[in-house]
Amino acid sequence: MPEQQPAELISEAAIDARVRELAEQISSDYADKGDIVLVGVLKGSFIFLADLSRRLTIPRTIEFIAVSSYDSGSVSSGAVRLVMDVRGNIEGRDVLIVEDIVDTGHTLKYLIGMLESHRPASIRTCALLHKPGSAEVDVPIDYIGFGIGDEWVVGYGLDYAERDRTLPYIGMVEPDDQ
Ligand code: IMP
Repeated sequence: MPEQQPAELISEAAIDARVRELAEQISSDYADKGDIVLVGVLKGSFIFLADLSRRLTIPRTIEFIAVSSYDSGSVSSGAVRLVMDVRGNIEGRDVLIVEDIVDTGHTLKYLIGMLESHRPASIRTCALLHKPGSAEVDVPIDYIGFGIGDEWVVGYGLDYAERDRTLPYIGMVEPDDQ
């Protein structure tokens, strides 16, 4: 029997339209700043980062950072661990952190602290998805694609235990570890 596809929460067309709006907003906000550094958080943000970065009309460079807090499923271990730091020099640069989703907020808070130690000129944050009902720490999100409930979502870069990352839409799954 073929595997059942996750139920659709946000369609491909809706994602595309919202990414275009975000890119327009970011391009306008940074219009007089010059070159910005987009720091994509691996692995979940890679598709969002690719689409967003191609739609920006301002000069930008790309860096990646990798952290881990979910061992393999959907329950956060709480402690965020740096797996890979940025490689380029971001000192004095305007940094925009590009995250797939902000859930409890621990990861983004940790990332801001981490990147501040590289002494950039500024740090702003952009998340495709936000679960406001799950927040445990207060963290600034400057650009948000969509606010969602506390369901586990997959697709467009997001996974559940490495599954469904390349679905073209955002779908919902029922994790078996909750
Ligand atoms: P936080 O530290 O709880 O805010 O979690 C942020 C990270 O958890 C994200 O970067 C994702 O990797 C992962 N995450 C949280 N919720 C989901 C979800 O619904 N689907 C897929 N990944 C998620």
